[in-house]
Amino acid sequence: MMEIKSFTNFEKKMGTTTDYFISQRAAELNESATLAMSQKTRELKSKGIDVINLSIGEPDFFVPNFIKEAAKQAIDDNYSFYPPVPGYPELRQMIALKLRRDNHLDYDPSQIVVSNGAKHVIANIFLTILNKGDEVLIPIPYWVSYPPLVQIADGKPVYIKSDFNKDFKITAEDIERHITPKTKAFIFSSPNNPSGKVYSYEELKEWASVFAKHPEILIISDEIYELINFTKEHHSIAEFEEIRDRVIIVNGLSKGFAMTGWRVGYSVSSKTIAKTIEKIQGQMTGGINDIAQMAALKALSVDPEDCHELIEMKESFRKRRNFMLKALSEIPGIKPNNPEGAFYIFPEISDLIGKKFEDFVINNDDDLCMYLLNNANVALTSGSSFGYPGCIRLSYATSMLQLEKAVERIKKAISQLQ
Ligand SMILES: Cc1ncc(COP(=O)(O)O)c(C=O)c1O
Repeated sequence: MMEIKSFTNFEKKMGTTTDYFISQRAAELNESATLAMSQKTRELKSKGIDVINLSIGEPDFFVPNFIKEAAKQAIDDNYSFYPPVPGYPELRQMIALKLRRDNHLDYDPSQIVVSNGAKHVIANIFLTILNKGDEVLIPIPYWVSYPPLVQIADGKPVYIKSDFNKDFKITAEDIERHITPKTKAFIFSSPNNPSGKVYSYEELKEWASVFAKHPEILIISDEIYELINFTKEHHSIAEFEEIRDRVIIVNGLSKGFAMTGWRVGYSVSSKTIAKTIEKIQGQMTGGINDIAQMAALKALSVDPEDCHELIEMKESFRKRRNFMLKALSEIPGIKPNNPEGAFYIFPEISDLIGKKFEDFVINNDDDLCMYLLNNANVALTSGSSFGYPGCIRLSYATSMLQLEKAVERIKKAISQLQ
């Protein structure tokens, strides 16, 4: 009989095979912190424990029906063949129309590439623009995936610190101080994950005047939370003519349309960069799922200001945010910030450092999240995961009922700390 060679036998023979075969690039990469927390949460849930998950970054709403219908129609219309690498021409045209309609920005469809979600968009961008050792400026707190995506492309993240007491905002001077001859790009998100902060037209204008002095730097503007903005309006740094040809807009349908699983994102850039992104995407993944593209075409055809499903989602987020801000501010040791968009609150918790429950000492924000997961059965994410220790991130993308329950549990667990 033929011997079946199991992987375990193979590993035994090769000794530390796992280490041997793994590239240095992959070995040095951190696991996504938010995904690690979700994994622990799933483990507890699988043991029958009722965990409330406030660590996850996705809307809890279903995809609006008119978008689902477009996807069903695409299946019936036999959209099942390899799609064009940069996206269907009609979708790229629709994105150009959306940019004109919502952002008053004039782009040609050839400047747009559709990818598998905004994360893939950002990965494509870094692979397109970075050489070994190129520096990318990243304000803290940052979305967890920016640094690893820079590292995968052999670049070097350079961090710009912000301060809870200054609303987590960085200034034009902060940016200028961190620019070196190796700076290739700057990436930020507004509305911001995790702080929920939104940069105003005036603030972006000041940044633009710094970048205008540095024609060697690209500005990557992650606008994935554009539609979940509680300030009067969303502004893109691409509005500033003097730097516009060096701005790369990142956007997609995951957050605003509650379509995280559909994986549709897009970049908007100069034609040369778009062509190169297309080249990289053509070799790595090809064009994205064509049914999702047809659904995205329908989704983007509506003006968000006239779409009751989108308006209702935003209003629910606003109500939940207001509830959470009030409820959290009543818990001793938790100082909420003032988020203006996205669906996160990023409170400061340094007063709880050093406190104890039985033998467990809270030495940092990671410990506090672990304590709350085990003792309140509420999953959160530590500020350290976003480069800002001393804070925690709560996502309010879940029902009011769950939020009320979560706050009660957190309050009780924190009152037991000594
Ligand atoms: C700031 C930011 N950018 C990009 C993404 C990625 O979005 P997508 O799900 O479309 O890949 C996320 C998702 O959490 C995010 O928070």
